[in-house]
Amino acid sequence: MTDASMQAELSTRGAESPWWRSAVVYQVYIRSFADGDGDGVGDIAGLRSRLPYLAALGVDAVWINPWYPSPMKDAGYDVSDFRAIEPVFGTLADAEAMIAEAHGLGIRVLLDLVPNHVSDQHRWFQQALAAAPGSSARARFIFRDGRGPTGDEPPNDWVSRFGGAAWTRVTETDGRRGQWYLHLFTPEQPDLDWNDQTVQADFEETMHFWFERGVDGFRIDVAHGLVKAEGLPDLGSTVWPPDTSEPVDHPHWDRDAVHEIYRKWRSLADTYDDPRVFVAEAWVQNAERLAMYLRSDELHTAFNFDFLLAPWQADEMRASIVTSLSAHDLVGAPPTWVLSNHDTVREVSRYARPQDARPLHAFNDLLDLPVDFEVGLMRARAAALLMLALPGGAYIYQGAELGLPEVEDLPEEVLQDPTWEQSGRTERGRDGCRVPIPWSGDEPPYGFSPGGPSAAPWLPQPRSWAELTVESQTGEAASTLELYRSALSIRRELPALGDGSLRWLDAPDGVMAFARDPGFVCVVNFSGDPAPAPDGAEKLLTSGPLTGLGELPADTAGWFAC
Ligand code: NOJ
Repeated sequence: MTDASMQAELSTRGAESPWWRSAVVYQVYIRSFADGDGDGVGDIAGLRSRLPYLAALGVDAVWINPWYPSPMKDAGYDVSDFRAIEPVFGTLADAEAMIAEAHGLGIRVLLDLVPNHVSDQHRWFQQALAAAPGSSARARFIFRDGRGPTGDEPPNDWVSRFGGAAWTRVTETDGRRGQWYLHLFTPEQPDLDWNDQTVQADFEETMHFWFERGVDGFRIDVAHGLVKAEGLPDLGSTVWPPDTSEPVDHPHWDRDAVHEIYRKWRSLADTYDDPRVFVAEAWVQNAERLAMYLRSDELHTAFNFDFLLAPWQADEMRASIVTSLSAHDLVGAPPTWVLSNHDTVREVSRYARPQDARPLHAFNDLLDLPVDFEVGLMRARAAALLMLALPGGAYIYQGAELGLPEVEDLPEEVLQDPTWEQSGRTERGRDGCRVPIPWSGDEPPYGFSPGGPSAAPWLPQPRSWAELTVESQTGEAASTLELYRSALSIRRELPALGDGSLRWLDAPDGVMAFARDPGFVCVVNFSGDPAPAPDGAEKLLTSGPLTGLGELPADTAGWFAC
């Protein structure tokens, strides 16, 4: 079958409801997924070799983290050329072959678009450094004179997401201390100015470039950050996320004007016969603000991070789901559920901690809290069934299907996340959720790299992962991998699942129960006591064994046919 005919088949499969409204998307963090050439870093060859695994798992699409040329100051989110492939990952020909092979297996491909900033090695920034203040080359970025009599102070009080000031001063070509440029992330990631027409046109060109190569859509990095307030006013006491439910006028997050950009992108994506799609990474104040990105002439989907951050408690989880469903309903968009990604602590390790102490998001949030990994894994498995039963689409971060925990004891000398250095070595950052996947065997690299002489994986894998490999879980009915496989297979079969709505059912305190029509019920037991299964229901799948009386134990979820 040709790639074009596969595209045609993929697009007609869900004729009533477009595929993206129900899609289960698997996040491939490429440098940690599979290494084809033995240098210890995952790559396109490795991904190609594992596509059959993803097809058998039953996902509808993959989202691949940035694979473009990059100096890797922020693991590829510092892009120096959006229309090429980082040599460590392969070539453009490899990428094209991968896209075609994925389509051949019925898997769509989403890439990561990083429009807020580029690498300081991008030709635009190099041109801007060589150009004079006020030049068109500098207008692509946010260069400003400093404050104070000698311009020694940054133009405003904005801070980098990774710690420290969001401004760096440059040396002008004549050797004098010069202007400052804005970087909301590392100094090697200068922010673009989206008022600049050449910036706008170039990103459209990049999208066309990849769409022409069959890419089905983009995840949009920092989608809430592209527009900065006129005059770049100080932050003052404004914090993000806001500590109030009142509307907040933040000078660089979630500004209304950002929506104009997405309206243009939507019309571009809609020009394709099989329209291409977007998923926004937008950390905004609340579900209503998120839904604004999903109005019918804007983006298709956006990650629901409230669900990810909700503690493992029936009331909190339910409130997060209710709020999200109603906000999405207002704009007719499907919610997109997610339990983890390459920026957050893995769910097994979050749920292994007490759930009422404080929000658990970054590695440092875990510190000093008591831990029970057995409970963490039970909850993560139950959460997976909950997520996959909810209306809309879902994202699975690679390794979640293996029940991988965060690696919490990485030695300091291997840490690569810029958070570590930029925080003055106080925050360890995100490396613990980025450790390479264990595929097979009893010892590192667990099949991550090919046999024979291979470099060690770029982050060390724990000894304890021998029992978590794909190989050791395959065929083990009680394994997390088989739980995911079963859940995805049932999800594909049952018309009740995916896009649509739910009905809440009465349930005891600490228990969540809802129905999806036709004939499906999901029950999740957050309480310490066993919870009854629905009367007269047939068990389809549970995240753990039922009690002798056929009840759901604590931290267990069940799918039932009624
Ligand atoms: C969000 C990405 O997911 C994260 O990994 C990255 O560091 C920042 N955006 C900056 O691009």
